[in-house]
Amino acid sequence: MKKILVIGGSNSRNSINKQLAIYTAGFIKDVKTEIIDLSNIDLPIYSVDYESEIGIPEELIALNDKFEIAQGFIVSLAEHNGSYTVVFKNVFDWLSRINGKVWRDKPMLLMSTSPGARGGQSVLETALKRFPYNGGNIIGSFSLPLFNDNFKKGKIINDELFKELQNEIKKFQKTLRN
Ligand SMILES: Cc1cc2nc3c(=O)[nH]c(=O)nc-3n(C[C@H](O)[C@H](O)[C@H](O)COP(=O)(O)O)c2cc1C
Repeated sequence: MKKILVIGGSNSRNSINKQLAIYTAGFIKDVKTEIIDLSNIDLPIYSVDYESEIGIPEELIALNDKFEIAQGFIVSLAEHNGSYTVVFKNVFDWLSRINGKVWRDKPMLLMSTSPGARGGQSVLETALKRFPYNGGNIIGSFSLPLFNDNFKKGKIINDELFKELQNEIKKFQKTLRN
């Protein structure tokens, strides 16, 4: 059975992006999912000096192996000051030192959410532009605005947004059949 990695781009314990990513993964049929919790990955802040003096951390090698084996990704990015969170960017930069094609051309459903009306669209746009240079094969994308209004008791309660996400899920699911 195919394996999908489910990633919230945040290290916050109650991350709304983790919640959205896990909720979305729940709709994908006939796959195994593994949640990658960035708050459990103990990595120093990337520096060229650290890398040349100490090398690639073991934790990163283990994570990179998971990226190698996975057949797809569901990612929801948290937005800090219009961009990636520090924890996501750090993991992303470290991974790119092992393989620049971080996402290995495997299908990805890319999302963002925030409590604000733009739903993290700035970070989403950044990632939509950037990830293809790192092997990102983005099949669908979705931004959930006003998380606290639109996501209650573990689900999206706004019909239009729910349908929009289901369309993206369908596209992603199709690529997993091959
Ligand atoms: C330092 C910082 C910067 C933030 N900047 C933005 C922002 O630019 N846009 C936005 O929509 N929300 C912003 N927020 C609010 C986050 O969207 C909110 O904390 C959200 O819960 C983060 O996602 P997470 O729960 O998955 O970590 C910011 C929050 C923090 C702590």
